[in-house]
Amino acid sequence: MTHPIDLAVIGGSGLYQFPGLTNTSRQRIDTPYGPASGDVVTGDFAGRRIAFLARHGESHSLPPHRVNYRANLWALHHLGARQVVGVNAVGGIRGDMGPRVIVVPDQVIDYTHGRFTSFCDVDGAEVRHIDFSEPYTASLRLALLDAANKAGIAAIDGGCYGATQGPRLETRAEIARMKRDGCDLVGMTGMPEAALARELGLDYACLALVANFAAGCGDEAEISIEEIFAHLKAATEAVPPILAELLK
Ligand code: HPA
Repeated sequence: MTHPIDLAVIGGSGLYQFPGLTNTSRQRIDTPYGPASGDVVTGDFAGRRIAFLARHGESHSLPPHRVNYRANLWALHHLGARQVVGVNAVGGIRGDMGPRVIVVPDQVIDYTHGRFTSFCDVDGAEVRHIDFSEPYTASLRLALLDAANKAGIAAIDGGCYGATQGPRLETRAEIARMKRDGCDLVGMTGMPEAALARELGLDYACLALVANFAAGCGDEAEISIEEIFAHLKAATEAVPPILAELLK
């Protein structure tokens, strides 16, 4: 008998394999929406069973606007996952959300376009209008915050994630507008992932890792991709201990 999946994790930039997974198996899932970003790797972690999927592919070959979000969520649901944590690299807009800070956002504004945003987006599919007032599952958000606390890792509770199209970073004017809109963070992959999870009835929360100050929010005139990846590497180290506590 296959083990049930206690938690699914979608890894973002800088998290292409889940460290410490043992007893792993890989599955390529055919979905009605085409291929997922890659194989789903299932394994034991902290005494529980987790399913891991690298959102951009294990060699980071998929830019944010080309990720097949529907196939990814469908594959995890098909494997029996009921709770999903999306790990997302973000830029910080709010002053206290600088590089290496970890945030568990509670709101979203979607600025993306041209992505498949719904499982209803297929001929003949039943049209459903999900409630999305609270885009993340409150209980999973709070469990993540509690887990971070128990792991001794600081994490900010709440913040509005602005999802942009990418793959380019934003202009200063775009970030200034997002700030006026109420965004605290900016990232390219938070949507439609969260909405698709809700359509499937999955619990979903985002663990946002700040890689840089967004355009115009820090001291630098330009944002360095090397620095983004260096900060992400450091922030990503906090992910396994947080999730180990979450799974206890
Ligand atoms: N903008 C959008 N997405 C990001 C950023 C950013 O500044 N940093 C990391 N992901």
